[in-house]
Amino acid sequence: MGSLARGSLSVAAVDARGIVKRFAGQVALRGVDLRVAIGSCHGLLGENGAGKSTLGRVIAGVHKPDAGELAVMGKPARWTSPRDALRAGVAMVHQELAFCPELSVAENLHLGRWPTRGGFVQRRAMESAAREALVPVGLDIDPARAVGSLSTAQEQLLQIAQALASGARLVVFDEPTSSLDDAECQRLLALVQRLVREGLTVIWVSHRLPEVLAICDRMTVLRDGEMAGELEGSNATEERLVEMLVGEHRELRAAKAETAPPPRDLAAPAEQAPAFLRVEGLQGERGLGPIDLEVRAGEIVGLEGLLGSGRSRLLATLFGLLPRHAGRVFVGDTELPPNNVRAALNAGVALVPEDRKRQGLVLGLDAARNVALGQEARWQRGALLDLAAEQHDTHAALAELDVRGLRPGAAVAALSGGNQQKVVLARWLSQSPRVLLVDEPTRGVDVGAKAAIHARLHALAASGTAILLVSSDRPELRALSSRVIPMARNVT
Ligand SMILES: Nc1ncnc2c1ncn2[C@@H]1O[C@H](COP(=O)(O)OP(=O)(O)OP(=O)(O)O)[C@@H](O)[C@H]1O
Ligand SMILES: [Mg+2]
Repeated sequence: MGSLARGSLSVAAVDARGIVKRFAGQVALRGVDLRVAIGSCHGLLGENGAGKSTLGRVIAGVHKPDAGELAVMGKPARWTSPRDALRAGVAMVHQELAFCPELSVAENLHLGRWPTRGGFVQRRAMESAAREALVPVGLDIDPARAVGSLSTAQEQLLQIAQALASGARLVVFDEPTSSLDDAECQRLLALVQRLVREGLTVIWVSHRLPEVLAICDRMTVLRDGEMAGELEGSNATEERLVEMLVGEHRELRAAKAETAPPPRDLAAPAEQAPAFLRVEGLQGERGLGPIDLEVRAGEIVGLEGLLGSGRSRLLATLFGLLPRHAGRVFVGDTELPPNNVRAALNAGVALVPEDRKRQGLVLGLDAARNVALGQEARWQRGALLDLAAEQHDTHAALAELDVRGLRPGAAVAALSGGNQQKVVLARWLSQSPRVLLVDEPTRGVDVGAKAAIHARLHALAASGTAILLVSSDRPELRALSSRVIPMARNVT
């Protein structure tokens, strides 16, 4: 780091020209130019499916561009793997699983190159090197710990530690804060700002505009695989960014945002409404509970608490995915047996899980099939399935949340991260469940889709669904909930 002049005009950290990337007939990038100054923090924004992750992956050697020129630190970059990119000092911090969960921190940091002497693995040397690598990111954990036991924030810091230890001078962060709570976000932002001051170049992909405005020197907005505009940090405001982000869809999005009814309307009638969900003395895994709560028909109840306070675990336990150790759960007059997802579904409970890839989607099926999954009874007419009705309903559900990049028959795995999130939501929101357990509904979705999801949740509540909501986005939790229940951090 630091051998090249900060902000140098002659050499750019990234100089990309006319980058084109196609996937199976779909064009993700249509000739994008990007110039990132050395030692700067450069924001990369755009709606879901705009091409941000794809561009990041091209720069980090994950994807090979189909056309265009890429130069990094003044040298042509024609790498064919992330390893090539890393050798040239470029790393990427991915949002989803980047390590082997069952291996230790030290083992993961040395993946593929464990130190040996005379054929024996030098475990001590490995662990002390790992300890050293953790210092710059302020991660205070035992290097012998399994990565699977780390929190998302810790795992992200570990990815940064790995990048720095391998000598990265340019790091692409793909939506690094979307699963962090307020305090963790602030800590990560402070760390990145310090690293940038020390000479690191950062490309920061995010949907969170305030955060982008706080840390980025310059920002590029992508729309439909093309450059939609650029702003200097000093000239940028949230309004200007939103304008660039949504482009000609502007009026449409504004209209959608206004369809959300004011949440406080719901608070009053809910007082008299029947309790659809009643929880008594619930206890679960890793010290969860005891918890008592009630959600009435038409009510949105927000669960507030830090990461690790057990909010997601509570939802998964209610749904029967995680073991219930004690307590009773009622849906209306029906008592739910523990650990029985089928019974929960039959009683009209739906869960929108936090981890969409592991729990929410069948990645090999297309979006419409994913929406239809488990709801087939809706379209059953005698012994037949009404396929036309199924198609109509699933497409309406996808259109309502404005899922982009759909191609009939194409696996949902090919959608951008935010669009996959919308498919999971479309599936559950289209069922009008009696009780909806929803975990981080707008994680990773763009501003327009966020408004559409809020409107849909309000509409569901207005039609009588009882909603239990978890969101690390405090303003969102406050805006949506008619009541907020705090959860104490009660786990180890
Ligand atoms: N492996 C893939 N196979 C097929 N299509 C892909 C693949 N990866 C991305 N795409 C397509 O390329 C386009 C851009 O996707 P990308 O993931 O870059 O969007 P993004 O801007 O990162 O969106 P998000 O905010 O949702 O993460 C999308 O239309 C997506 O469907
Ligand atoms: Mg992405």
